[in-house]
Amino acid sequence: MNANAIAPSQAVLSLNVNGERTQVGADLHDTLLTVLRDRMQLTAAKRGCNQGVCGACTISVDGVPMRACLSLAHNCEDAEVLTLEGLQENPRMRALQLAFARTGAFQCGFCTPGMLVSAQALLERNPQPDEQAVRLALSGNLCRCTGYVKIVQAVQGAARALAHEGDGQ
Ligand code: FES
Ligand code: FES
Repeated sequence: MNANAIAPSQAVLSLNVNGERTQVGADLHDTLLTVLRDRMQLTAAKRGCNQGVCGACTISVDGVPMRACLSLAHNCEDAEVLTLEGLQENPRMRALQLAFARTGAFQCGFCTPGMLVSAQALLERNPQPDEQAVRLALSGNLCRCTGYVKIVQAVQGAARALAHEGDGQ
C-alpha cells in the first residue's frame, strides 16, 4: 500500500503498521507520531505534549507500549507497529473499551487511546493485575479529567470479564 504522495525531499520508509507493510514518504527527522497521524491518517494516537511526557501518543512497538512522539520513524522499519486502530479485534482491547465505557473511565477522552494501548499490554502480560500493577502500568499516561479511580476500576473490570469469559469456554 502507498499511503501518501512522496515529496522529492523525503525518503521512502517501509513500515509494518497494523499488520500491513506500507511505503510512506517521510523526512529523516519525522517521528513515528508524525508519520502515523499526518502521513497515514491514523489519528487514534494523540499529539498531546509532543515531548514524551503525557503518554497520549502511546502505541505498541513489538508488543511494548512506546511513545510515538519520541520514536524516529526511520528507526522503526524492522518493528511491528500497532496503533489503537489495529487493535480493534484484540479481545483484551474489546473488553477494555467496553469496561471504559461502562465505568465512565473518561471525560474528554484525549488520554484514552494511549491508556487503552498501555492497559492492553498490561493484560497481555498480567491477566489479573492488582490495583498497584494497574497504576504502575498506566503511570506514564496522564489524565487531567478523571482522577484515575475509574480508569483503574475499568482495567480491573475488563480483566474480570475476560477471566469470566475464559471460565465459560
Ligand atoms: S504526545 Fe507523546 S508523550 Fe505526550
Ligand atoms: S479523560 Fe480527559 S485527559 Fe483523560
